[in-house]
Amino acid sequence: MTTSPDTPALPAEGVRVAFVGKGGSGKSTIIGYLLGHLAEDGVPVAALDADEPGDEEAGSLVEWADLAPLGGPVYPAPARLALRERAKALTPPGGLLVMDTGAWVRKAGGTHFAALASVDVVVLTMAPTRMELDRAGSVLAALDHLTEVGAHCPRLVICLTMVNPSAASADETEKTLADAGYRVLSTRVPRSDARDGYGQAFGRTPRLVAGSPMDLLAAELVAVAAEDAG
Ligand SMILES: Nc1ncnc2c1ncn2[C@@H]1O[C@H](COP(=O)(O)OP(=O)(O)OP(=O)(O)O)[C@@H](O)[C@H]1O
Ligand SMILES: [Mg+2]
Repeated sequence: MTTSPDTPALPAEGVRVAFVGKGGSGKSTIIGYLLGHLAEDGVPVAALDADEPGDEEAGSLVEWADLAPLGGPVYPAPARLALRERAKALTPPGGLLVMDTGAWVRKAGGTHFAALASVDVVVLTMAPTRMELDRAGSVLAALDHLTEVGAHCPRLVICLTMVNPSAASADETEKTLADAGYRVLSTRVPRSDARDGYGQAFGRTPRLVAGSPMDLLAAELVAVAAEDAG
């Protein structure tokens, strides 16, 4: 596999990235696209689906991968105590392991903490609304808590999802987050309900469009992951 010249090199041991965020914020859909775009960019990629056990029937990444080829293998997660070791073992050398997680609820359980403990970078997906900003607080508090107790804490970046491109709310939310010191990715995932849009992609082979938000997000994520190499 050849990496395109503008794709930054990832460390030889690879980088692990987890997506966390509220139910329905688009985590699994994003990862479904990212796998294809990353593979196209020549980045070795695999996914680990750490959805809470029992969520398997609710549109999980593993189920999607059973229905259509994605750009890389999707592995079901082991019991949470084995998650960290398994994530390490499955990380493609020089590539990315992308971890999906189940809906983050205010009192997130052990699987979420195991995911945070297993990755280098965490992407918080959130829609740009007042309510989501408020709800994101429990994720941010969990990360602060890890730092406080001296536990491993992944680097956080925030990805605005379900964005209506014509509304000012994404700019406002981004400003609020940036003012509070958080890093917001410049790529936003638009809400797309079109028949061939992101909202209808589950169970199908993602349509990979060069220069699309998912393509740009893949590139931005590799750049973020590559920062660990330095
Ligand atoms: N960009 C988008 N535009 C419109 N609809 C979307 C978009 N992304 C995802 N959806 C739809 O929204 C719903 C939730 O998406 P998805 O399952 O990816 O979210 P999730 O964060 O993985 O949720 P969960 O935490 O429950 O696993 C699905 O019906 C999906 O098809
Ligand atoms: Mg999901």
